[in-house]
Amino acid sequence: MFMSSVDIAVRALRQLEAEDIKVLAKIEVDMSRHRYVPERDILMMSGLAEKEIRYRLEKLNGLGLIHRWVGSYIGYVLSTAGYDCLALNALVKMGVLESLGKPLGVGKEADVYDGLTAGGERVAVKFHRLGRISFRQTRRFRGYLLDRRHVSWLYQSRLAAEKEMEALRLVHPCGVSVPKPIGHNRHVVVMGMIEGDCLFKFKEIPNPEAVLNEILENVRLAYLKSRVIHGDLSEFNIILTPSNHILIIDWPQFVRADHPNAEDILKRDVWNIIKFFRRKHGVIRDLQEALDYMKRPL
Ligand SMILES: Nc1ncnc2c1ncn2[C@@H]1O[C@H](COP(=O)(O)OP(=O)(O)O)[C@@H](O)[C@H]1O
Ligand SMILES: [Mg+2]
Repeated sequence: MFMSSVDIAVRALRQLEAEDIKVLAKIEVDMSRHRYVPERDILMMSGLAEKEIRYRLEKLNGLGLIHRWVGSYIGYVLSTAGYDCLALNALVKMGVLESLGKPLGVGKEADVYDGLTAGGERVAVKFHRLGRISFRQTRRFRGYLLDRRHVSWLYQSRLAAEKEMEALRLVHPCGVSVPKPIGHNRHVVVMGMIEGDCLFKFKEIPNPEAVLNEILENVRLAYLKSRVIHGDLSEFNIILTPSNHILIIDWPQFVRADHPNAEDILKRDVWNIIKFFRRKHGVIRDLQEALDYMKRPL
């Protein structure tokens, strides 16, 4: 049976003790300096006896949270599941997350699961996955390149989560229709759960003109009030709710309104939406008119 890295992480988390987390965290930190974190460095970490650390490494390796590498020396790296484990453990400790449920969407750059907060609120838990490289690619990239890429999946995924959280915190208080930001750790963002489906999935929608207007209103509100431009707006990043309202999701590539290419990025966002409504729902809207509307003071 196929187990996703989140499945592996959730299962492992129940069996982890504080010392295991310490060893994982040590490897995480040292991965910024090493392609494979030397075993001898881990064995020297403070607070734990060498014998105990050896036992923990064996356990973590068996659970699939780290990979052991044997070359000119013995080293370890975190697996995706190991990184998921560190983030989930922190979110639980922070009192943000209580449990994790089913996958809501598994995309190219993120895996999204439903979950519950300690207060019983249903949330969406988004694991950012950037710089994921396939086995085939791994074989193609050797030496230095693999080196750089190896560290960068940790770094890029964390950066994407931080940026998405930043965007949600900027636009949500301004009344832009987005999931509520709830918490964040490492490469994971916890946000309000939305009922509904991505816009591209609907063959027909009840009042497409009103839906288009609502999208443009929200793009304008984000732009004028939060000074934020989505940057990857399309029918794939808009959710239509059962009551025919929209929410805009997936914000890690947002830019500020004072970005040097802000105008072009805004134009591209608006054009993507207008084009989609023309092609799929027969709603004709003039691009320049929509752009003028974006600039008209609130
Ligand atoms: N807050 C949310 N509530 C419910 N479902 C969500 C939420 N955020 C994302 N999803 C689901 O997960 C999918 C992927 O999310 P998205 O943020 O677009 O990530 P990416 O496109 O980078 O994989 C969405 O298409 C949607 O089905
Ligand atoms: Mg998306």
